[in-house]
Amino acid sequence: MLNNFEFMLPTTIRCGRGIHREIGKELAARGKKKPLLVTDKGLIAAGVIDKITASLAESGYPHIDIFDEVEPNPRDTTVHRGCERARAAGADALLAVGGGSSMDTAKGIGVLLAGGGAIKDYEGLGKVTAEIPMLIAAPTTVGTGSEVTFWAVIKDTKENYKMSIGSPLIAPKLAFLDADLIETLPPAVIAATGMDALTHAIEGYTATLSEPLTDACGLYAIEMIGKNLLSAVYGADPKAKENMLIASMVAGVCFGNSDIGGCHCMSEALGSLYDTPHGIANAVMLPYIMEYNCLADTAKFARVAAALGARDTAGLSERESARAAVDCVRRLNQDLAIPSLREIGAKAEDIDELAMRSATNVSVDSNTRKIGKAEFLSIFRSAMADGPPRA
Ligand SMILES: [Fe+2]
Repeated sequence: MLNNFEFMLPTTIRCGRGIHREIGKELAARGKKKPLLVTDKGLIAAGVIDKITASLAESGYPHIDIFDEVEPNPRDTTVHRGCERARAAGADALLAVGGGSSMDTAKGIGVLLAGGGAIKDYEGLGKVTAEIPMLIAAPTTVGTGSEVTFWAVIKDTKENYKMSIGSPLIAPKLAFLDADLIETLPPAVIAATGMDALTHAIEGYTATLSEPLTDACGLYAIEMIGKNLLSAVYGADPKAKENMLIASMVAGVCFGNSDIGGCHCMSEALGSLYDTPHGIANAVMLPYIMEYNCLADTAKFARVAAALGARDTAGLSERESARAAVDCVRRLNQDLAIPSLREIGAKAEDIDELAMRSATNVSVDSNTRKIGKAEFLSIFRSAMADGPPRA
């Protein structure tokens, strides 16, 4: 953990049931006339976007331009098309409604509107130099945390990998966390995106760049997810989903300031090669990377176990408690019916390529324990050897 650090949160967070009705007021207060709504077709079909456009109409925005071409693991070509759409519409603000894909696409569109060129020009940390148009983000999943981070992950379709674009200048100005927008979220999506949030919290808490504030947020998010994820997926209490919406944001504040680690290095490799949904890819690999990492920071992983409510840790050594955190995540995966690496379509002949892509990820040095291609190879091999998550 670092004692010399800088912590940023450029986003104002507004949270509450029905708070999406305030979005129009926020746009009007800043003199915005032509917001472009960035989303996906699934949310239009689910009626979520109708809620947003109806409330915007009441606030003086009767006709909203909508870019609804966002896909999972969003592509550079989609960002470019969205930018053309924004330019054609004369957009002066961006409103992202959706999961991480919509929010990251909107960030990318904003980058191009502000600075021109291609999204690839901005790959890495600190390449963005112009402030993007006002971006409002309203998450409709319980995982990404993108509403409070200054990162966008976009697929480079020429070289077929996921690039990261990082800058405080791309952070949303406002995040609206509204449980009304996740009412129709299918249980399988809550499970997958919730595991993404847990991965953010665990990786952010144990990252080499972690510091006191990211520790506080990470540990709190782990505990909140441990208490609420299963109820949000299987239970009837709407409060559990609401809590997951908050927990995923808190996890976003954590990893947005520290970093992610080896699990995301592998999940982004899987996403780029197979288009595996991001949350599923993280859930599949999380126990394996934790097993590799836990002895490098037993104190922190023991606290992860406690935050996840590990059973029977009284009398265990710190080392044994750290290992209990891995078992907790394995059990959670089993309870959530997370598939195995083979079941998501990974092929033995691709393992070398997956390990190479993981090892060249921008976040590889943030992993708790030093890791490189050989270690990723061995982690992928043991995951391939396993069936569905063990109890
Ligand atoms: Fe993630």
